[in-house]
Amino acid sequence: MLILLKNIFKTYKAGQVDVPALVDITLQVDQGEFVAIIGQSGSGKTTLLDIVGCLSQPTSGEYWLDGDHVNTLPDSLLTGIRNKKIGFIFQTFHLLARKTALENVQLPLMYAGASRTVQQDKARELLTRVGLEDRLRHYSNQLSGGQQQRVAIARALANSPSLLLADEPTGNLDSQSGKDILALFEQLHRQGQTIVMITHDPLIAHQAERRITLADGRIVADESIHQPLPVLG
Ligand SMILES: Nc1ncnc2c1ncn2[C@@H]1O[C@H](COP(=O)(O)OP(=O)(O)O)[C@@H](O)[C@H]1O
Ligand SMILES: [Mg+2]
Repeated sequence: MLILLKNIFKTYKAGQVDVPALVDITLQVDQGEFVAIIGQSGSGKTTLLDIVGCLSQPTSGEYWLDGDHVNTLPDSLLTGIRNKKIGFIFQTFHLLARKTALENVQLPLMYAGASRTVQQDKARELLTRVGLEDRLRHYSNQLSGGQQQRVAIARALANSPSLLLADEPTGNLDSQSGKDILALFEQLHRQGQTIVMITHDPLIAHQAERRITLADGRIVADESIHQPLPVLG
């Protein structure tokens, strides 16, 4: 089991008002799963992903990631776990505009202490894997939205994370680029990558093998869709 959330609550304070963003979330995700999280705007999807990604702490409850009880760890250790184990992909790509595709992907490798040669070789290999071998020296703003998201995916994969987290990764893309990005996620999934993805896209949610629905901060559905076995003979 990679992710275990037990009775997670998250309450934001907005002035004098308490906003309950997550209410009693209990959830388990195994290695190799591809999970889609759906739900209306404001239902708590991003809050949940931020907790799973160690970007924020729950108000109460337990979070175990890969055997570590992460919500008892100090921030210093949490940062290390986040850098090593988690790759993030956002709706708006979050690339550095004044850096090339290659440099954007090298960055997390540099932070992890890799040598310059390893940084360059690995970044080139990852960009090739996402189909951008002919765009290595392009700056982010010289790339299409779909290409920028590919760079972001390559960057997220740089330190071989156990877990890939994506918050509306196709939300800013035209429908064809969105389909291409989804195909890339499916390819990564087939190669064994664990993925948790927030999506508004009914097509993506429909294709996912597991779909979790949030409403008002609670899990209201958790469905596994198994493909029927092919009939032999
Ligand atoms: N930093 C914050 N401070 C106060 N309330 C917040 C904050 N972030 C989110 N919320 C509230 O928490 C709820 C869940 O938000 P969010 O997780 O962003 O939902 P979603 O991603 O599903 O749209 C919403 O009611 C939102 O207004
Ligand atoms: Mg959100």
